[in-house]
Amino acid sequence: MAKVKKAFFCKNCGHESAKWLGCCPSCGEWNTFVEEIVSKPATSALGINNSNSKALLINDIDISHESRLNLNSVEINRILGGGLVCGSMILVGGEPGIGKSTLSLQIALKCPDIKTLYVSGEESAQQIKIRAARLGSNDAQCYILSETLLETIIMQAKELKPDILVIDSIQTLYTERIDSSAGSISQIRDCAMQLLKFAKETNTPVFVIGHITKDGTIAGPKVLEHIVDVVLQFEGDSNHAYRILRATKNRFGSTAEIGIFEMQNTGLREIENPSEILISQHNDLSFSGVAIAATMDGVRPLFIETQSLVSTAAYGVPQRSTTGIDVRRLNMLLAVLEKRAGFRLAMKDVFFNITGGLRISDTAADMAIISSVLSSNFDVPIPVSSCFCAEVGLTGELRPVSHINQRIGEAARLNFKKIFISRYSKLEDKPPVNIEVISVAKIEELMKILFGKN
Ligand SMILES: Nc1ncnc2c1ncn2[C@@H]1O[C@H](COP(=O)(O)OP(=O)(O)OP(=O)(O)O)[C@@H](O)[C@H]1O
Ligand SMILES: [Mg+2]
Repeated sequence: MAKVKKAFFCKNCGHESAKWLGCCPSCGEWNTFVEEIVSKPATSALGINNSNSKALLINDIDISHESRLNLNSVEINRILGGGLVCGSMILVGGEPGIGKSTLSLQIALKCPDIKTLYVSGEESAQQIKIRAARLGSNDAQCYILSETLLETIIMQAKELKPDILVIDSIQTLYTERIDSSAGSISQIRDCAMQLLKFAKETNTPVFVIGHITKDGTIAGPKVLEHIVDVVLQFEGDSNHAYRILRATKNRFGSTAEIGIFEMQNTGLREIENPSEILISQHNDLSFSGVAIAATMDGVRPLFIETQSLVSTAAYGVPQRSTTGIDVRRLNMLLAVLEKRAGFRLAMKDVFFNITGGLRISDTAADMAIISSVLSSNFDVPIPVSSCFCAEVGLTGELRPVSHINQRIGEAARLNFKKIFISRYSKLEDKPPVNIEVISVAKIEELMKILFGKN
């Protein structure tokens, strides 16, 4: 009987060791080693161009055939940096049920002149057909293969010669070269290596769907993210209809681009003007505790509605609860209000919410957050035609933020009448005439303008 060889692998970086280690010598992570069976060599040389590869002068390399496929989707093309680069490998990660399979099947179905092979290790061909019927497939050249053995998949792909190969998901694949079970570190690493080799040799773009771990990173070794060309994260609260697709790594384009989609019965719908949807349509009716923040996500302006509710604490310890921002950021802003603006919140509960289920980390939302808290506290509404964009410092000063001209331009386009910015912001261009730009230096000044209080 063949001797079973076992080895330990680091779950984070894929480092192999003969014995268990507490701390990985390669990535320095603790308690990440797991035991796996390896009866055949786990690693293989990547060998993208077999043995006949030879060094070329950079000027002699022909890129005339280096084309990008148009995926028939403005948002996805933009995130990929202007289309899908042939021979690239794209990893799509996201929470369970967020819509990874829907997104990749939709890409396959929406391009009638592109031949795709959609390989699923999770669903049967019938189940995929049901989804395709929901998405409204028409004359798509999309082939479905329900298979988990990598060697068969590559054989089929070489036979069919698709323009795009989709793998759903890398965790369900296994290769005969390794004995450990599907989803294990060595299987994921080896399958990814073989798929990369296929992509580079045949110049076929490969979409690979990856599961994510509890803390939000892509399951499997970190090396998986290193070997692929593009890593796309599909985010959003699965209870809300909005989804954000962002590139966390892109060898052929910017990582600052994001795409916003809405999950509908007929699949993912692209949203070109997210701000128009995220801001609730109150018309002329304003409520206290609401302020609009002019934030940016990457290079894209995103206008969001911040909502606060300040009420008298029922118990001794006041509650602070947030959705969409870090609760520590709210605590910090409340401390600044208390210390710098003499605003007593010690006996008040503060609830904060960002509508649409989005999460914001842009500090430009600070001024809107404090304005909504103050508005709720005084029960005085802020006119819906005003928006805010400045960071709040610990000294209570309002600090400038990046891309100020772009934010003001977007505010004018969305028909806001006033935008509050930091006095220290440097405006490169003259602001549009249909918007009033109000420069404020301190919180006290803002309170006076908005509520007439000192
Ligand atoms: N009829 C429908 N109408 C609206 N939305 C739907 C419908 N059917 C499915 N969905 C949405 O699609 C999501 C599932 O999409 P999908 O199967 O692509 O997710 P996934 O990320 O591939 O999940 P998994 O990790 O399980 O593979 C559901 O969570 C739901 O939001
Ligand atoms: Mg799926």
